Amino acid sequence: MSFSARIRADFPILRRTVEGRPLVYFDNAATSQRPEAVVEMQQRLCREHNANIHRAVHTLSYEATEAYEAGRKAAQRFLNAASPDEIVMTSGATMSINLVANCLAWGGFIGRGDAILLTEAEHHSNIVPWQMVCQRTGAHLEVVPVDAGAEDNTGSVDMEAYRAALRRGVKMVAITHVSNILGAVNPVAEMVAEAHTLGIPVLIDGAQGIVHRRVDVRALDCDFYVFSGHKIYAPTGIGVLYGKREWLEKLPPFMGGGDMVGRVSFEGTTYADIPLKFEAGTANFVAGACLAPALEYASRVAANPQAAEHEKTLVAAMNRALASVDGIFMAAADAPDRVPLWSFTIEGVHPLDAAMLMDKMGVALRSGHMCAEPIVDRIGGGSMLRASLMPYNTVEEVEIFERALQRTVKILRK
Ligand SMILES: Cc1ncc(COP(=O)(O)O)c(C=O)c1O
Repeated sequence: MSFSARIRADFPILRRTVEGRPLVYFDNAATSQRPEAVVEMQQRLCREHNANIHRAVHTLSYEATEAYEAGRKAAQRFLNAASPDEIVMTSGATMSINLVANCLAWGGFIGRGDAILLTEAEHHSNIVPWQMVCQRTGAHLEVVPVDAGAEDNTGSVDMEAYRAALRRGVKMVAITHVSNILGAVNPVAEMVAEAHTLGIPVLIDGAQGIVHRRVDVRALDCDFYVFSGHKIYAPTGIGVLYGKREWLEKLPPFMGGGDMVGRVSFEGTTYADIPLKFEAGTANFVAGACLAPALEYASRVAANPQAAEHEKTLVAAMNRALASVDGIFMAAADAPDRVPLWSFTIEGVHPLDAAMLMDKMGVALRSGHMCAEPIVDRIGGGSMLRASLMPYNTVEEVEIFERALQRTVKILRK
């Protein structure tokens, strides 16, 4: 049995059909599918251990708490964080970034005249929370360009511009590890080191990067790293915020409620220690528990010596398939290091029409601005198609994709 066939067998949903054809699921960057072990954990929690966590002394609450905390420990191991205290469980990457942005603002770490440095290829989740904080504090955004487009198409951050933008008034660098449009891997370790020479903290949006690259937050030395569980085999509604202990300890919480407190009285309240200080209210403990089997699954797949070879084969097959289409523009076509994610436009074909027609042929693609309007506006005229693959995808599926795309272009091209 091949590497991908063995993995596929763990994903019940991949056995279904769409429009009478085998499903070719190439929309993994939006959300990945879940292996049996995760589905099983989700059901087990609901069937056997459903009780609110951290609060009660009864058996079910203890079991649910243990399962949730096992999810936190799995995230700690996966990121190689120094302690589970540095792992804040959130609802997803979006919530993690909003949390950091708001806590920085509440804590007075960002003020009038300060700057937040982003790249041009950020997801809305790593733009809008900072814009909102800027509106409240009088700070402003500065945007580093990315080499993507007809001329220079590596998809990399313009490092010269990045270095030039780093200066004392910059209070945070917030950058994507891998853009959900470009698929190119940013030199995040180098970017962190450059920012740290001026004492500027760095948040890395790892929503796409964590899925395809090993992340060691201690080696990266980033101050914050965020990701969403649902893009890496876990259910929706759970995400991770890694924060260096020193940052989590000095930031004030921005959400109050149950579970995040020490003592509460009408005169004043003390807060719980990290990480619970940032986890107000009942957590999504079912999804949190599922982080453990999801990240263990991801680790097992990545540790397989065939995994890297399989990814390379998929990337080569997709590059060939896309290049075979006349009039195609592929974002970051010259990326020296890319994950299996491609955004593209095809001359004379509207992305939405193409995605609808491809679906009729059983192929699930993403279309539109994909929550990254600034970069898609510049390089894709406001709308692109995107194919994103996981280890369970196969070269045979790439061939189906290629034939479907050729047919789609033939039908739609004016
Ligand atoms: C690069 C990037 N950042 C952030 C997000 C936001 O993730 P979520 O909607 O799960 O919070 C996404 C989702 O597509 C993404 O691709």
